[in-house]
Amino acid sequence: MESLLIPTTLASELVCSNCQKTYSIKEEQLYATCCNKPLLVQYDLDQSIRPEEILTNQRSIWRYASLLPVFDKANQISLGEGDTPLLTLNKLAGKYGYRDLVLKDESFNPTGSFKARGLSVAISKAKEFKRNRCIVPTAGNAGGAMAAYCAKAGIEATVVMPVKTPEIFKEECRLYGAELILVDGLINDCAKKVSELNIDHAFFDVSTLKEPYRLEGKKTMGYEIAEQLGWQLPDIILYPAGGGTGLIGLWKAFKEMKMLGWIKGKLPRMVAVQTTNCGPIAAAFKDPINWKMQFTPRATIANGLAVPFPFGMDLMLQVLKESKGEVCLVDDADIVQGLKEIAKTEGLIISPEGAATWMALRQLTASGKINYSEKIVLLNTGTGYKYLENL
Ligand SMILES: Cc1ncc(COP(=O)(O)O)c(C=O)c1O
Ligand SMILES: [Zn+2]
Repeated sequence: MESLLIPTTLASELVCSNCQKTYSIKEEQLYATCCNKPLLVQYDLDQSIRPEEILTNQRSIWRYASLLPVFDKANQISLGEGDTPLLTLNKLAGKYGYRDLVLKDESFNPTGSFKARGLSVAISKAKEFKRNRCIVPTAGNAGGAMAAYCAKAGIEATVVMPVKTPEIFKEECRLYGAELILVDGLINDCAKKVSELNIDHAFFDVSTLKEPYRLEGKKTMGYEIAEQLGWQLPDIILYPAGGGTGLIGLWKAFKEMKMLGWIKGKLPRMVAVQTTNCGPIAAAFKDPINWKMQFTPRATIANGLAVPFPFGMDLMLQVLKESKGEVCLVDDADIVQGLKEIAKTEGLIISPEGAATWMALRQLTASGKINYSEKIVLLNTGTGYKYLENL
């Protein structure tokens, strides 16, 4: 039985991630129009709240409902997302000499990726705001997840996806009853199409970080990692970053848990992993002012990492700076090699994005930036089964 004292949510307001201007959490909001930056949800958190007082016994992200921005439990749209395992990669660790190497395996989520977490919360909010049409530009996984949650919520879904995406990502959207629009280009071209289609705001637009709710779903990965490790965070987390919700969400969760007093000591160094074909974070990390001028994005087999101009760039750079982390680029051939190695060694067919984190780890240990004795968490953000066509 859940305690009657568990509040539905401790969410209190929304703030501009740039100037801290506040926006009402009770009304539908998208991004902070004051600075054209993402909005962040804030909560009433203090050190007297213990985990057992507010965590529910649901086996999904809704275990953390008090720390999510949905007001009425009846609006929670869940397909059993979250509660994914932290797997010990003991065979790979033994082969290369890592002392403590684990994988947070998000392939167990509905629709096969971590996108389910964010879309569960965003579509719950769409329901809370009584919206009946949602739209998203996607590299693949977010579109499938949105289509599934919209189906469950009884909301019409429109998904805009690059034409060069493996067929299964398209087919799942159709099966979930979504309208699918294919665009010749990358996700930024899909985003343009979404803006054109939504000129009259008929759709609830859940583009990455253009609304504050998906980030909240994604941050539950951070709460789960801490809880699974007995409220002790690792030394380092390698994360495949595209639009940035995962990286920013993990960091947000860690800071919230610090405010709650649930975790103590140093926070992990965060490594953003991208590909040599499309590495805007690396470009901006080097030259935050002029990076867009010399930047030419190309497609990659890690579809989710082909996000040329992420709206949340400043927040990603802030995470890397605050955590004393870094960016690491991996090329497509190495990703395929890593994916096959993990499959043969650990019995896991993970996403190319997840495999990139393994190859990034090898690069960073070879260059001495990560030590073999550190406690390391790799994030596998999705299943590899949807990408077999790319291999
Ligand atoms: C499997 C996978 N990994 C990583 C990413 C990047 O996501 P984020 O927006 O959290 O940076 C995506 C985005 O499409 C994805 O599908
Ligand atoms: Zn502002």
